[in-house]
Amino acid sequence: MKSNAILSAAAAILAASAFLPVHAGDYRSEALAMMKRDFHPRGIAGIDRLDQDAVQAICNRTSDKPPEALAKILQRDQMDAIRWPSDGKYLGNSAAGEKIAQRGKGMTWKDKAGAPGGGGCYNCHQIGPKETSFGTLGPSLYQFGKIRGYGIENQKYVWGKIWNSKATNLCSNMPRFGHSGSLTEAQIRDLTALLLDPKSPVNSQ
Ligand code: HEC
Repeated sequence: MKSNAILSAAAAILAASAFLPVHAGDYRSEALAMMKRDFHPRGIAGIDRLDQDAVQAICNRTSDKPPEALAKILQRDQMDAIRWPSDGKYLGNSAAGEKIAQRGKGMTWKDKAGAPGGGGCYNCHQIGPKETSFGTLGPSLYQFGKIRGYGIENQKYVWGKIWNSKATNLCSNMPRFGHSGSLTEAQIRDLTALLLDPKSPVNSQ
């Protein structure tokens, strides 16, 4: 079953259930109309950014607790859409990865379409030993490879997590960097090395 079909099935389930307070539907469309009225498209920042895909809609409408069976199906869809490295190599350059993790640039109306952006990973994660300013919305990734292992299974896990966090955790708050096109394959390879190259400062210091 593809996402659209799942969405209509899910909408039917949700409409028949007690997930939503009586007026929630009205407020949601009122809020959306307000945003559409007040947000103005500029440059690459189009109004289509207000459109939710099936996963975002289900997570929002269930306060991140979708029915388990539905979550499983949607998660599988997200997993199936991950693009794995075209040459089978998961690890790039960890020093380049650190720069991407540090960089928060990208996706604003001033940015050019297709220009490589940053990951902004430190906004949510502790990562390298030298950076002392980091957010804590996500778990610490310091010594990630040392603790979790350097093998191919973990390389695939990290690649998949960066490409699409929702493939392993449907209502994850982590952005879907590959899925949304905000990071390139080469950038994801460098970030995977940052976390999993044994010589990366993340693991060696
Ligand atoms: C807006 C906050 C946010 C940003 C930005 C973010 N993450 Fe995350 N990340 C999370 C959260 C929350 C989790 C835990 C939930 C989950 O696993 O999806 C997580 C989980 C992870 C995990 C799995 C950790 C584990 O213990 O299994 C990895 C690996 C990861 N993030 C890497 C990255 C990288 C690399 C970047 C930058 C490209 C990044 N994250 C940017 C919020 C974020």
